[in-house]
Amino acid sequence: MKPVKVGICGLGTVGGGTFNVLKRNAEEIARRAGRGIEVAQIAARRPNPKCETGSTPITADIFDVANNPEIDVVIELIGGYTLAHELVLKAIENGKHVVTANKALIAVHGNEIFAKAREKGVIVAFEAAVAGGIPVIKAIREGLAANRINWLAGIINGTGNFILTEMREKGRAFADVLKEAQALGYAEADPTFDVEGIDAAHKLTILASIAFGIPLQFDKAYTEGITQLTTADVNYAEALGYRIKHLGVARRTDKGIELRVHPTLIPADRLIANVNGVMNAVMVNGDAAGSTLFYGAGAGMEPTASSVVADLVDVVRAMTADPENRVPHLAFQPDSLSDHPILTIDACESAYYLRIQAKDHPGVLAQVATILSERGINIESIMQMEVEEHDGLVPMILVTHRVLESRIIEAIAALEALDDVVGNVVRIRVEQLN
Ligand code: HSE
Repeated sequence: MKPVKVGICGLGTVGGGTFNVLKRNAEEIARRAGRGIEVAQIAARRPNPKCETGSTPITADIFDVANNPEIDVVIELIGGYTLAHELVLKAIENGKHVVTANKALIAVHGNEIFAKAREKGVIVAFEAAVAGGIPVIKAIREGLAANRINWLAGIINGTGNFILTEMREKGRAFADVLKEAQALGYAEADPTFDVEGIDAAHKLTILASIAFGIPLQFDKAYTEGITQLTTADVNYAEALGYRIKHLGVARRTDKGIELRVHPTLIPADRLIANVNGVMNAVMVNGDAAGSTLFYGAGAGMEPTASSVVADLVDVVRAMTADPENRVPHLAFQPDSLSDHPILTIDACESAYYLRIQAKDHPGVLAQVATILSERGINIESIMQMEVEEHDGLVPMILVTHRVLESRIIEAIAALEALDDVVGNVVRIRVEQLN
């Protein structure tokens, strides 16, 4: 059988890794796919010194690849929303299958892209868009297909996890660690995407769609970054038996779906709380399988290439199959997607860590307890620290039971209005993940 011809658009970290893995493991990959896979064209503005492209034709124009009649599959690895969007639509229009690692593109334009792909009978595969080398899309879409998924929670941004790990383990300051993550090549071109939770929200949006069978709705995801976290809170959390992770949480409730990315306290003895450095992990809870945990490298040259090439093998196997018999893009049949709404953050439920800076007066604790109890907020634990020498204030740390976000917002406003409470109350959500 003739080899399948692919075109790689973008020869950066992931593009270079994809070329190298395809070349190095060509024989194994062909044995799996049932046909050889040949890189027939590359679009790149500059060579990648980590990649020996030999005699493979190279063009500077990505649309040469999308318009090349010889190419069966376009691999989009240029990133971003604009050019990548045009490229993918052009490739689909020309009847080509697409493999992409572009989480932003899928989270924001995925509904349109999949509709166009269905019209044209082509596949758009995107395993590498979420959690780099971890095959979590395939696991949820196929491996857990028997389950009604209850919730999933993931550490899905390596840069953020690296920063939090260094803050906790070495007491390093936020800005200093971010610089190192950028130098290591993990951070997004705009690192605010990493530290403000936007990158994680792109990935969470995709995971939630395939877990619950809902359209992609990135605009409804709640995101809160890690830029305001202090080493003091990291240490207090530790003293209470928790770790702080930047977590993406998607949960099905009767009222709707929670879709939120924010710093989160997790009990230190959970496996996922011990995922450190740039590693990623996704926990998925289904009614039949219970909780499962997927762990691995969430970024990097060859880990991400591993997912790109796995998608390519899937495309090669499925390209001759009747489109009706392929695995649906979003796991559920397109006419069976649900309109269960995404909840706004004030309608979400969580437990909370609160840090209150109070004056060292009698009765403050009683006032705090009254404000919480009047709003039906149950306290799980409380820790009062010694008076701080520099300001004479007493840090009071509380962990509540689960409560509606709108209730805790109300309680925080009342706490901040107390004469004996100074400054803002720090609030971090807590998830038990059990
Ligand atoms: N900036 C991302 C991260 C790269 O740090 O996880 C992988 O998507």
